[in-house]
Amino acid sequence: MRDQLIALLAEVSTLDLPDAEAAEAFRIAWLGRKGRMKDLMVAFKEAPNEEKRELGKLLNELKGSIEERIESVTSQGPGQSGSGSSGEDLTRPAGGLGIGTHHPLSVVRREIIGIFERMGFVVSEGPEIEDDWHVFSGLNFPEEHPARDMQDTFFVDRNPDLLLRTHTSSVQVREMEQHEPPMRLIMPGRVFRNEAVSSRAHCMFHQIEGLYIDEGVSFADLKQTLLLFAQEFFGPETRIRLRPSYFPFTEPSAEVDVYWGLETEVDKRITKGTGWLEILGCGMVDPNVLEAAGIDSRKYSGYAFGMGVERITMLRYQIGDLRAFFENDARFLDQFKGQY
Ligand code: PHE
Repeated sequence: MRDQLIALLAEVSTLDLPDAEAAEAFRIAWLGRKGRMKDLMVAFKEAPNEEKRELGKLLNELKGSIEERIESVTSQGPGQSGSGSSGEDLTRPAGGLGIGTHHPLSVVRREIIGIFERMGFVVSEGPEIEDDWHVFSGLNFPEEHPARDMQDTFFVDRNPDLLLRTHTSSVQVREMEQHEPPMRLIMPGRVFRNEAVSSRAHCMFHQIEGLYIDEGVSFADLKQTLLLFAQEFFGPETRIRLRPSYFPFTEPSAEVDVYWGLETEVDKRITKGTGWLEILGCGMVDPNVLEAAGIDSRKYSGYAFGMGVERITMLRYQIGDLRAFFENDARFLDQFKGQY
């Protein structure tokens, strides 16, 4: 067998392979499923053990030399060889797999979190399946509050105390129960609401929640932090305004708008003629919420805010239909190529 292999090595290295077609035939004859290499492997297995070392080496050499020959033909440019008789260029590399993209929601979430991390906030996450306490009762929702209604909340059939969280404010409660102030947290996550899917609403979306508790935290701290965020995210000239609002867990509460502009028809349409766009809800953490979590509300105060990632992403990229985020249409996602 040894001599046979040496003869074959010589044969392979002198063989004439004029084009890609010949190379392919050669490949099939040697490396194909019924090729000569297969027979040699069988013979090798039956060879006496003491010869195996040398034979193995020769076999490897032969295989390497075959692969090299094929490679040298197929890697030549199409101009030199490789035009198949059909006129197609068989040596062209296959199409290959396209590079994927970061999802626009991930891009924006990462950016928002980054801005708050640079201000000293730390990321924290909580469970998507929650109990009534962390989503509602611990956040000062009255017993009869409409947000608890079957219309809005997905409950777990077998245990009505369990539900899919409707907001990331539940993570606030968990953190306040487990840790002593000071705390400065940014809490991203998925939330669920029992709503009909449309271009503006979905039964699943993403929020980013912020919470800062310490001695002497004031509404001015909240406002300045949010202004800084808006200017980092939307641009240094960005203006914000705060409108009074209501949330059971904050007092006072506000909604924050950014000034978008009123120059074009599109501006008018997306700002409903006002020039302003709402981006988040916020307020000073209600003392009832601090006390319920075991935090002394005479010593500590804090602020909280929560924003919708889809909404902010739609603003930033002028996306008109929320459903685009969840359809995984490559034509939509490809537009975010290179975004990190
Ligand atoms: N949880 C509120 C919502 O989902 C947003 C919010 C968070 C408001 C924190 C105030 C403070 O609408």
